[in-house]
Amino acid sequence: MEELYSTLARYYDLMYANKNYKEEAEILHSIIQKRKRSDGNMLLDVACGTGRHIEFLKVHYDIVGLDLNEDMLRIAWERNRDVEFVQGDMTSFKIDRQFDAIICLFGSINYVRTMKRLDAAIAKFTEHLKNGGALIIEPIFTAESFRDEHLSITCVDNTNCKIARVGVSRRKGNIALLEMHYLIAVQGEIRHIKEIHEMGLFTRRSIVDTLSRYGLTPEIIKGGLGRENLFVGVKT
Ligand SMILES: C[S@@+](CC[C@H](N)C(=O)[O-])C[C@H]1O[C@@H](n2cnc3c(N)ncnc32)[C@H](O)[C@@H]1O
Repeated sequence: MEELYSTLARYYDLMYANKNYKEEAEILHSIIQKRKRSDGNMLLDVACGTGRHIEFLKVHYDIVGLDLNEDMLRIAWERNRDVEFVQGDMTSFKIDRQFDAIICLFGSINYVRTMKRLDAAIAKFTEHLKNGGALIIEPIFTAESFRDEHLSITCVDNTNCKIARVGVSRRKGNIALLEMHYLIAVQGEIRHIKEIHEMGLFTRRSIVDTLSRYGLTPEIIKGGLGRENLFVGVKT
């Protein structure tokens, strides 16, 4: 997992240049403000990637960013030198603070793969939430919404860098296999990189039940940030 994002960390922001992180941050802020009952403004971004949400959320919150991958974290830190970053696994991290809000976005939760590890991640999120704090999880897909044999293509067409990423998704039991091939033309060379992302297919029910089991009041926000539903849990 750590390796997957290492090779391509430097191209991540180019691949998602059209994703509107500013607008997403404002939607997230409004969701958090309407739900949280704790008084503070501490926010933990789990699997923060290159820190693009943090860039816009830090005007509202004191933020800690957590990610497994040190190359992603380095880019996040270069973008947000005023923010604290921690390297860790969402199923086992320990930070000596509790937060008013925890977010885990853009399919990062699917990387835990199994129900056992989903349980461990939500246990960790709950442990790090204040009473009245709000958790927001955005899967990239659920078992219900996953499209088997879905094909995708993303292109980057900058003067000094051309990328074509072609992908196909397949279901293997409760796991989605996302096979991606990158052709990257940069500095007079073309590289071909192949990756297979293994991502858990969790039912909506299983996510909601896991939130409830840890004492979080669950809610599904349909359509969320314009992709999959958001799963919210408030610690009561
Ligand atoms: C699709 S990116 C999302 C990044 C960011 N949240 C965004 O919206 O752009 C997935 C991120 O999850 C991180 N990740 C994967 N498994 C993880 C784990 N077990 N614990 C913490 N981070 C993890 C990866 O390193 C990567 O930065």
